[in-house]
Amino acid sequence: MSDALLDRIAAASDLTELDSVRVALLGKSGEITARLKSLGSMDPGARAAEAPKVHALREKVTGAIAERKASLEAAELESRLATETIDLSLPAPETVSGTVHPVSQVMDELAEIFADLGFSVAEGPEIETQWYNFTALNMPEDHPARAMQDTFYLEPRTPGEEPYVLRTHTSPVQIRAGESHGAPIYVIAPGRVYRSDSDATHTPMFHQVEGFVIDKGITLGHLKWTLETFLKAFFERDDVVLRMRPSYFPFTEPSAEVDVGWSIEKGRRVVGGQQGWMEVLGSGIVHPRVISNVGLDPDEWQGFAFGCGIDRLAMLKYGMDDLRAFFDGDIRWLKHYGFRALDVPTLSGGVGA
Ligand code: DAH
Repeated sequence: MSDALLDRIAAASDLTELDSVRVALLGKSGEITARLKSLGSMDPGARAAEAPKVHALREKVTGAIAERKASLEAAELESRLATETIDLSLPAPETVSGTVHPVSQVMDELAEIFADLGFSVAEGPEIETQWYNFTALNMPEDHPARAMQDTFYLEPRTPGEEPYVLRTHTSPVQIRAGESHGAPIYVIAPGRVYRSDSDATHTPMFHQVEGFVIDKGITLGHLKWTLETFLKAFFERDDVVLRMRPSYFPFTEPSAEVDVGWSIEKGRRVVGGQQGWMEVLGSGIVHPRVISNVGLDPDEWQGFAFGCGIDRLAMLKYGMDDLRAFFDGDIRWLKHYGFRALDVPTLSGGVGA
């Protein structure tokens, strides 16, 4: 009996057939199930003799089915591997077309450098409320600093609604990141900003990176060290020198404009040395009112912030001289100044890959 059953299992030539054999033997109305059920109506003597046999048979059959199943599955995989092929001989395109735009490349470089200093990347919307773009940054409605920036105002959607603006700087991300993250916080926020201005050195859309730190006991020394470390890593030179000049920004107190030293090498002006100075960013100690506006106690928390033009950084590092070319979408310019998609900036391999 048992041999005949085992033959039926061995004869199953695929998984579906094997399953029908399993149902026929062990299913609800299967042959072995029926024999198990019949034990109940036997007299004790006959049951004692029959029960061990039926149980052993069920065990044997279950084992044989599992074994057959495993070998059918292995055979199926084997035959798939034998028939499926991948043709690795197709030629790769001769030249990779398309490059990474210098602005994207520089944003990746910034994220890489600041990640190493413990900063994460924060984001905010480009269509912004006046609260985030101005008021929360200590620029009340009648504040003269609002006139410093040539703001694009959006048409209100309903009459009387306060118009949204295209953000004029990345500073509103200070407030958004502070509100959602709390303190301590170490973030940079790279992104697009908009001002109604257009000539050889200004475009209506350009890029900034904001830096924002809130912690305990923060001083101008932390700010200067951070900027120096960042600019040395970014320009990949140790002779980068900074000069801080007192300035005014409503959201920082004190505020400083930061100049970087340049020198002439092979007839070109490069960052490094101290033959002359050029301004690269604005910065300062976060104003206590800004700390309150993100919901923190200024007696407990201090911070520093800075804001820097990314396009400017790219021009200085990679030697471009016309800002407008950044946004022309001219494929020849991109071929010349763009970066290979696989040259991802890393600190170990060099950020300007
Ligand atoms: N938001 C300023 C601008 O667009 C730049 C700036 C200056 C940002 C000083 C800062 C800062 O965070 O502390 O002109």
